[in-house]
Amino acid sequence: MKRAAVLVSGGGTNLQALIDARRMGKMPSVELALVISDREGAFALERAKQNNIKISVLRRRDFASAEAYDHAFCNVLKENNIDLAVLAGFLSIIGPATLGAYRKRIINIHPSLLPAFGGKGFYGVKVHEAALNRGVKVSGATVHYVDDEVDGGEIIAQKAVAVLEGDTPETLQRRIMEEAEWQILPAAVELLCKGEL
Ligand code: GAR
Repeated sequence: MKRAAVLVSGGGTNLQALIDARRMGKMPSVELALVISDREGAFALERAKQNNIKISVLRRRDFASAEAYDHAFCNVLKENNIDLAVLAGFLSIIGPATLGAYRKRIINIHPSLLPAFGGKGFYGVKVHEAALNRGVKVSGATVHYVDDEVDGGEIIAQKAVAVLEGDTPETLQRRIMEEAEWQILPAAVELLCKGEL
């Protein structure tokens, strides 16, 4: 079994999808060993507590520099013997020390078919606003490796979801979560931990 850390900032529905997949026997190669949040009040932390998963809160403002934050982050992953870090709605940027130490062992879920609607500023519902404004008829979600280009790492998995007449950013966001994100993230985490990718 590989030890995964899930990095969160918000509601944590993707974390919940991982917890549920684990409970249903769909991630036999994965131990959800740690949840790291960059926000104290993230509801995702409640989900972790309810499921007896160790938590760690690392707030940028508690560190003097981006470098110090990066090193603290990397140390927490190492101290907990983490094999794979899973960004699931995590807002902070991963620094070079962590990226260097965990090359090809950090992945992210993004709510569009990358490279469309990715990069700096494309987060959460803003991604869906941009997709609807552009008039795309198909959107979806992507699981990709994290490297030094925001949302630019190699793609591991994607799933397409139709945009429907009358969709709002919120209805599209919800459907993409249900039909794509909560499916492909647990599947990709299991494949990686099983060593199949
Ligand atoms: C998810 O839709 C995730 O794909 C997105 O934020 C949401 C987090 O929801 N991530 C990004 O936009 C990253 N650029 P959650 O906290 O309920 O999992």
